[in-house]
Amino acid sequence: MERLPFKFRILLYFFSFASFISRRSNVTVNRFLMSLFDPKYSASSKPRHGVSTYDVVFDPSHNLWFRLFLPSSSSSTDNNNVTDLPVIVYYHGGGFVFFSANSMAYDDLCRRLARELRVAVVSVNYRLSPEHRCPIPYEDGFDALKYLDGMDLDGGGFPVKLDVSRCFLAGDSAGGNLAHHVAVRAGGHNFKKLKIKGIIAIQPFFGGEERVESEIKFSKSPMLNLEQADWYWKAFLPKGCDRNHPAVHVFGPSGGDEISKVKFPTTLLILGGKDQLGDWGKKYYEWLKDECGKEVDLVEYPNAIHGFYVVPELKDSSLLIKDMNDFIHKIIGKLKIEG
Ligand SMILES: *[C@@H]1O[C@H](CO)[C@@H](O)[C@H](O)[C@H]1NC(C)=O
Ligand SMILES: *[C@@H]1O[C@H](CO)[C@@H](O)[C@H](O)[C@H]1NC(C)=O
Repeated sequence: MERLPFKFRILLYFFSFASFISRRSNVTVNRFLMSLFDPKYSASSKPRHGVSTYDVVFDPSHNLWFRLFLPSSSSSTDNNNVTDLPVIVYYHGGGFVFFSANSMAYDDLCRRLARELRVAVVSVNYRLSPEHRCPIPYEDGFDALKYLDGMDLDGGGFPVKLDVSRCFLAGDSAGGNLAHHVAVRAGGHNFKKLKIKGIIAIQPFFGGEERVESEIKFSKSPMLNLEQADWYWKAFLPKGCDRNHPAVHVFGPSGGDEISKVKFPTTLLILGGKDQLGDWGKKYYEWLKDECGKEVDLVEYPNAIHGFYVVPELKDSSLLIKDMNDFIHKIIGKLKIEG
């Protein structure tokens, strides 16, 4: 196996340790302890690495906000008049339990997506479990879309306009699960302007009571081990539910009821060959394509472990950007991105 870069190994053990010590056996989180391991960046309209950021409150009653990432036009590599940017609505990972839109790792990732894909990224700060269990994170994720749909995109005071009629939902890990469930909700809703053109699910967090081969094979993997994954589900699901709940086990007996009734956009599904969730991802692919008849592009990176995308130096991280770029272009055709 190819050696992981030093920085990634440090990050892996740092996060596993943080997750281990801040998760309690009574399914609560020591938020103070975790905060020591989860450095935050503040938003800044002055561009950093070619991207300016703004925090936008979309539901003051629940203190919900998103971080908007806009590539600065001065750093544009083409001479086109970039006015209306397509939008990626991003849901961060962390087992529904950890991280936020201003966490260093996710600020970095979304900044990179905005800069390299030349899109606006809306990173949603949904509420976390176990304080807020299923379906609250899905509702928050969906409310962000409703807000974007009604937002005054001309008078918002941002240097570029967002084109919400070219919107993609994306997320990694728990965020990939969120993208799926938010898309199902969105499929049954009439938006005024917003149109979801595609979904990008990066190593999405699905599961079930049965044990699949990849879970057994990578049960001790540092970024996401089996004990952690089981704990996250326990924290996320309504009390008393097991992992055959349709939020987790979408491909179970009742999982397809809703999706069969709605329009579901084309999905780019990214899986890792060394990720504990790999076989669940394949089940998701087969279910979505064969049972639900939806369009899915499956891409597997054979050497990728869970969470590879937080380290830009990895070859698979560059591949991810390229595959996302190809997918977005295939769908919206027009947008021009050149390096
Ligand atoms: C869980 O354990 C922590 C620390 O032992 C304790 O402070 C907290 O009250 C417990 N919460 C519940 C709901 O049992
Ligand atoms: C870009 O487009 C806007 C609106 O269509 C226009 O007002 C502006 O002059 C254009 N800028 C350039 C550099 O072409």
